[in-house]
Amino acid sequence: MKTFHTVNDLREWRDCCDSVAFVPTMGNLHEGHLKLVSLARQQANHVVVSIFVNPLQFGPGEDFLRYPRTLEQDAARLREHGVDLLFAPDTSELYPQPQRCHIELPDIASELCGASRPGHFRGVATVVMKLLNLVRPQVACFGKKDYQQLAIIRMMVEDFAMPVRIVAGETVRAPDGLALSSRNQYLTESQRSQAPALFGELQRIAAEAHADADLTVLEQRAMQTLDSQGWQTDYISIRNRQLGTPASQDTSLVVLGAARLGNTRLIDNLEFVRPRPSQA
Ligand code: PAF
Repeated sequence: MKTFHTVNDLREWRDCCDSVAFVPTMGNLHEGHLKLVSLARQQANHVVVSIFVNPLQFGPGEDFLRYPRTLEQDAARLREHGVDLLFAPDTSELYPQPQRCHIELPDIASELCGASRPGHFRGVATVVMKLLNLVRPQVACFGKKDYQQLAIIRMMVEDFAMPVRIVAGETVRAPDGLALSSRNQYLTESQRSQAPALFGELQRIAAEAHADADLTVLEQRAMQTLDSQGWQTDYISIRNRQLGTPASQDTSLVVLGAARLGNTRLIDNLEFVRPRPSQA
């Protein structure tokens, strides 16, 4: 595996390759990332992974400075997984001057996680466009764990007619159901044992969202349950798979949630199918 830190090295290497699948990450890799690498391997002859903790997507007071940076261990795992190229620029390489142009996003970027993290998805979309322009992959892989991010990137790629196919990887979970995330390591031992409750509430909603169920009641009950267990719930929201408000005839739905345990904000989601209302 080659490791490059500069745009020039990346560009030179890229000119010699035919098909490339790309997995952008912020590092501190776990099984979820490695699953995306395997998915990428099935899509193209060469796999490129980037590791870059993108300052543009962190708000003031968020965890940019303490975000775990583990480049050496990450590089070893990527090498074991047959990655061809690791691109790990530092901030001044990717942003040699303050970024002047940003992607303007649709309203969905200000809802759900965007409501409590203003500017987050603008920062994500901006760096993803930049990385896609540098790596020029035919395919880019993103995890469903960041469902809203994935939806927004799909919209950006479609609206700008970007020549890349977006492939989604399923969320990888610990045996107790907790979705793998680099932020799980911020949890104390007792918070870690409470953490699967978020997914538990999403599962309960998916099981109880019958054709005639009141979705708002289900969302509110889940938020109250979590809050009563010591969480600070940001939102629990049932949407259609494009993240719009579900119409009564929509059956392919997703429930998304974000909640804090202490200082750690966890997000999760679950796709489910709601039965059609009976014709009687
Ligand atoms: O999902 C992530 O790790 C990041 O948001 C991404 C897509 C690498 C952009 O910085």
